[in-house]
Amino acid sequence: MVIFLNSRSEKLVPEDELSRQREYALQVKKLLELRYPGRTPLAHVHTFGCQQNVSDGEKIKGMLQGMGYDFCTAPADADLVIYNTCAIRENAEDKVFGSIGQLSHCKNARKDMILGVCGCMVQQKHVAEKIRKSYPYIDLVFGTHVLHRLPELLYRALTEKKRVFEAPDSDGAIAEGLPAVRDGKIKAWLPIMYGCNNFCTYCVVPYVRGRERSRASADIIAEAKALIADGYKEITLLGQNVNSYGKGLEEEINFAGLLRKLNVLDGDFVLRFMTSHPKDATPDLIDTMARCEKVCHHLHLPVQSGCDRVLREMNRHYDKKSYLALVDYARKKIPDLSLSSDIIVGFPGETEEEFDETLELVKQVGYHFLYTFIFSPRPGTKAAQMDDPVSPQEKSRWFRQLLDVQEKIGQAIYDGLVGKTFRVLAEGQGRSGDGWLTGRTGQNVIVEFEGSEALIGGFVNVRVTKALRWAVIGEIADSRTSNEN
Ligand code: 5AD
Ligand code: SF4
Repeated sequence: MVIFLNSRSEKLVPEDELSRQREYALQVKKLLELRYPGRTPLAHVHTFGCQQNVSDGEKIKGMLQGMGYDFCTAPADADLVIYNTCAIRENAEDKVFGSIGQLSHCKNARKDMILGVCGCMVQQKHVAEKIRKSYPYIDLVFGTHVLHRLPELLYRALTEKKRVFEAPDSDGAIAEGLPAVRDGKIKAWLPIMYGCNNFCTYCVVPYVRGRERSRASADIIAEAKALIADGYKEITLLGQNVNSYGKGLEEEINFAGLLRKLNVLDGDFVLRFMTSHPKDATPDLIDTMARCEKVCHHLHLPVQSGCDRVLREMNRHYDKKSYLALVDYARKKIPDLSLSSDIIVGFPGETEEEFDETLELVKQVGYHFLYTFIFSPRPGTKAAQMDDPVSPQEKSRWFRQLLDVQEKIGQAIYDGLVGKTFRVLAEGQGRSGDGWLTGRTGQNVIVEFEGSEALIGGFVNVRVTKALRWAVIGEIADSRTSNEN
């Protein structure tokens, strides 16, 4: 199978294949007009998991809209249900199976309903098999690498008497130009690359998302320009490891270079990105973040563990010392930088002393936020084969300890924001009551403040007056007093 080819056009899904899919979309539209005369067919699309999945979900909706579907929030009202699934941890999969189980009631009530499951979970053979055997009412199963073929697969599900299962391995091609129905009007997800080559020993992503492949910068810039023209004010660049952006492309470009190209686009907008693998985060990236005024001062830099032995077992390719040196460098160059991280508690063989090293590192760095997970063995990964003697109860105890430590750190950081003024993108109505708005600072801190709805979708300078646990409260400040970007 071809993974990377040299010519740019060869790494894309060919135009004749995309046009074949557009033809199928027209056929589906015609079928639906006959099947549901006088009314618009309804689809319910639910996405589990990460932002990359959310972005895929937006494309699924874009294609469905092109086929004549409108959308509904309750599966029971839908003619088509699609669950876009996540495989990162066992509890994510359990949640999906629970939801799929519930669908049997809907299908019993409405035999003509089409039920589809897609995304990372079904890219695993054992999951596709489980659906085949134990969930006979699921009509359509499609993996992450055939998203663009949804029109064809749906056509088959609607016309053939048998179930459709399609989850091949990646051929390394990217489908450009798919339509999208985006979830919001202010903030947008923009994938810059797909897949992952890192094979961290605990992680299923390289198996279900295939090898790394980057989009050409011209395609990314064109999409960013269109988003800005549509009024989007925040663009988050997505990739499993954005720092390896550009590898395998014909053009000479890396992630810092891409940020610089996007930073000079006209318009009042900000840029975010995730996720940055510490092994590939370079001083050039930090310098670029410092220099580019549209790039937010937040860096998600998942450390996973503060113990060198565990990091080696995880196949992370950095150690505590180099991670801390990077953090120091970033803080020097960007004094108001906020850092966040993912941490895995209870990796196989981790001892309490080793976990304590993680606690120490967390204290030393002082993260604004942490995303914490108890290790979950994923079938097919190396870590799933490793000895794992620590009991779940013990791991839960460590986990709570980590949460307690982080809560104090986060609270101290939030308390320290009182009196400061930030430029905040007003995103919508707040949770604090009528007349309250919510937004985020460049550092990704949630701010609630009183203001008119007319401000939603614009930037406002807000002075922080009080720190809560999950957010800070502020008041609109004079526009000249903001002390950050
Ligand atoms: N168990 C627990 N956490 C995991 N993550 C990835 N795989 C696993 C696993 N098997 C976490 C990592 C990663 C985040 C997206 O999910 O911390 O950074
Ligand atoms: Fe998983 Fe590691 Fe790739 Fe992130 S970098 S997706 S944790 S394998």
